[in-house]
Amino acid sequence: MSEHVVDTGRRKMLTVSASVVGAVGAAVAIVPFVSTMSPSARALASGAPVQVDVSKLEPGQKIQVEWRRKPVWIVRRSDKMVSLLDSNEERVRDPNSDELTQQPDFARNQMRSLKADVLVLVGICTHLGCSPTFRPELAPEDLGPDWVGGFYCACHGSRFDMAGRVYKNVPANKNLEVPPYKYISDNLIVVGELDEGAA
Ligand code: FES
Repeated sequence: MSEHVVDTGRRKMLTVSASVVGAVGAAVAIVPFVSTMSPSARALASGAPVQVDVSKLEPGQKIQVEWRRKPVWIVRRSDKMVSLLDSNEERVRDPNSDELTQQPDFARNQMRSLKADVLVLVGICTHLGCSPTFRPELAPEDLGPDWVGGFYCACHGSRFDMAGRVYKNVPANKNLEVPPYKYISDNLIVVGELDEGAA
């Protein structure tokens, strides 16, 4: 078990649990026999799926876990955040997420997610790899009156909306990546695995 910071953009903190799927199961199974065979950091970094409990995630909050040494964000979108995605269709470069490499098939749409309220993204800017900041507020002074919430990369000014869709006329030219993931119950996500049959 490990702890992860929740980022609401208002510096509100909350912790949720996440665990490595496989790794936890394997550890439970083998501990009675060979206690030294717990998974190494190297094995986890190589891509073991990560299980995330999102039951305590409130609308407007973001948590971060690590998968394959990458930051993965899980954001609970409010109804308002989801409805505002429509207003961005003309302002983003790839509104329907047609760029194949940026997400599994299930996320090639406006929401870019399995459930409308829960967004899962790799938190790495598609320009030069900085980590953008979560900016869920509406029209903050530094981002201007048109800002409807999203992610801002201060390195060179790239902007992404609340589906991780990149705006036009910014240095980054691809949407933020959606990693493979699936639900194993209403509130448990496994990052790093797809449902059978999903692309
Ligand atoms: S790395 Fe994000 S804008 Fe350049």
